[in-house]
Amino acid sequence: AEALRVALAGLGTVGGGVVKLLDANRDLIARRAGRPIEVVAVSARDRTRDRGIDLSRFAWVDDSSSLATLDEVDVVVELVGGSDGPALTLARATLAAGRHLVTANKALLAHHGLELAETAERGSAALKFEAAVAGGIPVIKGLREGAAANEIGRVYGILNGTCNFILSKMEAEGRDFAEVLSEAQALGYAESDPTFDIDGIDAAHKLSILASLAFGSQPAFGAVAVHGIRHVLGADIAEAAALGHRVRLVGVAEAGPQGLFQRVHPHLVPLDHPLAHVTGSTNAVVAEGNFVGRLLFQGAGAGEGPTASAVVADLIDIARGEFGPAFAMPAGSLSAASVADSGER
Ligand code: NDP
Ligand code: HSE
Repeated sequence: AEALRVALAGLGTVGGGVVKLLDANRDLIARRAGRPIEVVAVSARDRTRDRGIDLSRFAWVDDSSSLATLDEVDVVVELVGGSDGPALTLARATLAAGRHLVTANKALLAHHGLELAETAERGSAALKFEAAVAGGIPVIKGLREGAAANEIGRVYGILNGTCNFILSKMEAEGRDFAEVLSEAQALGYAESDPTFDIDGIDAAHKLSILASLAFGSQPAFGAVAVHGIRHVLGADIAEAAALGHRVRLVGVAEAGPQGLFQRVHPHLVPLDHPLAHVTGSTNAVVAEGNFVGRLLFQGAGAGEGPTASAVVADLIDIARGEFGPAFAMPAGSLSAASVADSGER
């Protein structure tokens, strides 16, 4: 069968991981996808950087936006990052050209998800973003497809691997915030601007995407109340432990009388709750459905392998022709009215 031809923008932690995964599991992926998946063109900032992967077999493109209209490309994978700038330009151009788009970029979706979903639908293109929320955990699929028949009352969880890694290490090893943050950066978990992690912004991006899937609302990052972990001290963690609790950065979206309420802040989690036992860069998402009950999704929330795994799962869906609306329902039916401003940012 004819290969699915992929253009890849961004060759950092996740982009490099995608190339390695497509190489390592090539035959298995081709069998499951029903056809080979082949990267044909790539783009990054620095062509000369040694990335530990052979790029000579791919066409190199200096301007990532031109990947959108290259001949013989079926899918563009955007792994550059940022809610605007080159990522947005590329995403818009790809979907406007009727090409499929896979992205791990939660900032982009939290700010422009509705517009991109509408463009995708107009061009009958796929907009897939499994990697954008909770790294390797198939939580987008889980909510969009697995829980599709349910009314969801609440979705919440640990959505930022960097913060969870920092809080876990501070607790287990009594280490300083700054020292643990640089370790998370070295492991490839943190955003290029790590204040997005520690100030809760990244978790809020992800929460607004989860809420769209769970509640049929438009992604509305501006409506999320956000507090990060910058001011959490070792002493707070020790005090929480003395009271039988752990400190976790948790995002919660729930339906209330005023509409959808979304917030991210450090929570005291009792030890008998599963989220208290989520450590390191692991993420966990709980969704409460009216027929299925409580679903718990847990797994690696960040890093090269897990995130690449989610990106390639999206490519396999596209290769099989299995994709529908980007969110749980067509973009035109996503409601803006149901989102309440959750205040205090
Ligand atoms: P990195 O910073 O490691 O990589 C970013 C890549 O984008 C680099 O290869 C960089 O080039 C390239 N780049 C930057 N600007 C441009 C441009 N103008 N045109 C083309 N390429 C450009 O980021 P990550 O791989 O960690 O993250 C990528 C995306 O995935 C982000 O949206 C992030 O939020 C998301 N994500 C990351 C996860 C993780 O664990 N790291 C997990 C889930 C999602 P160069 O290498 O030459 O500098
Ligand atoms: N910086 C993010 C995190 C990457 O730490 O969770 C995964 O989205």
